[in-house]
Amino acid sequence: MDKIVVQGAGPLDGEVKISGAKNSALPILISSLLVDGTLTLSNVPHLQDITTTMGLLSHLGVQMQIDENMHIAADSSAVDQIRAPYELVKTMRASILVLGPLLARMGHAEVSLPGGCAIGSRPVNLHIKGLEAMGAKVIIEDGYIKATCKRLQGARMFMDIVSVTGTENLMMAASLAQGVSVIENAAREPEIVDLANCLNAMGAKVSGAGTDEITIEGVDSLHSASHRVIADRIETGTYLVAGAATRGRVKALNTEPKYLEAVLNKLEEAGCDLDVGDDYIEVNMHGRQPKAVSLRTAPHPAFPTDMQAQFVTMNALSQGTGTVVETIFENRFMHVHELQRMGAEIQLEGNTAVVTGRERLQAAPVMATDLRASASLVIAGLMADGPTIIDRIYHIDRGYECIEEKFAGLGANIKRIPSHLWEREKSRYLSN
Ligand code: UD1
Repeated sequence: MDKIVVQGAGPLDGEVKISGAKNSALPILISSLLVDGTLTLSNVPHLQDITTTMGLLSHLGVQMQIDENMHIAADSSAVDQIRAPYELVKTMRASILVLGPLLARMGHAEVSLPGGCAIGSRPVNLHIKGLEAMGAKVIIEDGYIKATCKRLQGARMFMDIVSVTGTENLMMAASLAQGVSVIENAAREPEIVDLANCLNAMGAKVSGAGTDEITIEGVDSLHSASHRVIADRIETGTYLVAGAATRGRVKALNTEPKYLEAVLNKLEEAGCDLDVGDDYIEVNMHGRQPKAVSLRTAPHPAFPTDMQAQFVTMNALSQGTGTVVETIFENRFMHVHELQRMGAEIQLEGNTAVVTGRERLQAAPVMATDLRASASLVIAGLMADGPTIIDRIYHIDRGYECIEEKFAGLGANIKRIPSHLWEREKSRYLSN
C-alpha cells in the first residue's frame, strides 16, 4: 500500500485551488440515471469515489465519457441493469444513492446493503421507508435491498433523523413519481441544493431545497442538461485549518464562503485573521498559536461532522482546552487514538473529546482510518518533530484531489511513497 510521509516544517504559506465537491458530484453523477439523454458535468473532482461511481454507472449501462479536464458526459438512454452488486457497493456507501433513481426509472432495483462502516453502523432505513411511502415494495434478501414498483406515487415523507444521502435518494426518486412529494425534516446541506439545481436543469420541479421542507412535483421524464458542481467546502475547511494549526497563511481559491459559516466562526474564535471575498477565503495566524475551541457537530448549517477530525488536531496544537462533541456518528473518533500516539493530549469519553493543546507533536507511524481522519493526521504531521508515516492512504484518495501536490504548494514537506518503493525508502524514515 502507498504511504504518505509528512515532515514537520514551518508554517504553511500560499494559495490552494479548491476542487469540486465530492459530496455533490456523487449524487449528481448518479442522478444521470434519471435522464433519458445525457447529463454533462464540469468541476468534477478527480477522486477514487468518482471512479468508483463511474464504474457502478457503467455497470448499470450508462455510457460514460470523460476528458482530461474531468468533464463528464453520462448518457443513460441505454440503461438496462437494475442490480448494484456488493463488490461495487462495499467500497463506497454512497452507492446506495442508485436505489431511488433506478427504482423510479426502471420500476425495479437491487442494491447491495452497504454493510458496516468504520465510523458507525450507518443504516439506510430512512431511504427505504421513504421509497415505501411512495408505493415501492421493498424486501431485504441475500444481503440486497430489492425494491419494485409500478410508478412511484408522490407522498409526504418525514425523516426521523436528518440524513443527507437519504434526502438525496428520495428527492431523485420523487422527481419521476406521479404527483407531489414533500420531504419533511430534510437535510439542508449545500450539496442538496446543488443536486436540486441539477435536477431542475434536467426538467424536474424541486423547490425548497436548502430548507427543511422540500417539495417535488413529479414529471414524466427528464431531459439532457449541463451542470457545474459546486466547490468542496470540506476540502476548503481542511486547508484553512491546516493553515491555522501551522500558524501560517493559507488562501483557498475557487471556493464558496457562504457554505462555511460555522467553520469560519470557529476559526475566528481560534484567533485567525480572516479575509473573505466572493470566491476566496484567507486565514492568517501571523505566526501565532491558535486558541483551542469547543464545538458540537450537527446537521448543516451547524458545524459539520466532516470537519471534526481536523479541528481535533488543531486543538491539539492550540493554547488551552477545547471540548469536541460528535453528535452525528457514534464512532467517529478513531483519529484520536492515532493522534494520542503522536503525543496529543486528548481525553475521550463517549461522544466527547476533551483536547488540551501543546506546542508540537511527535512523529509516529499512523494509520488513516477514514477519509476525514486521514486529513487530520496530515495536519498533525505538519506540526510534528520527525517524519510521520501515514498508512492506508486509500482513504485520503477517496476524497482529497492531489493532496500532496496541494500541500506541497503551500510549502509542506509531504511525499507519497508508492508501495513498491517502500522497502527501498523506509530506512530513511524509520529509526529502527
Ligand atoms: C453524508 C456525507 C458524509 C457526511 C454525512 C453527515 C455524502 C456522500 N456523505 O453521509 O460525508 O459525514 O452526510 O453530514 O454526502 N441515518 C439513519 N438512517 C438512515 C440514514 C442515516 O439512522 O437511513 C443516520 C446515520 O447513522 C447518521 C445520521 O443519520 O447517524 C446522518 O447520516 P447521513 O446524513 O445519512 O450520512 P450520509 O448521507 O451517509
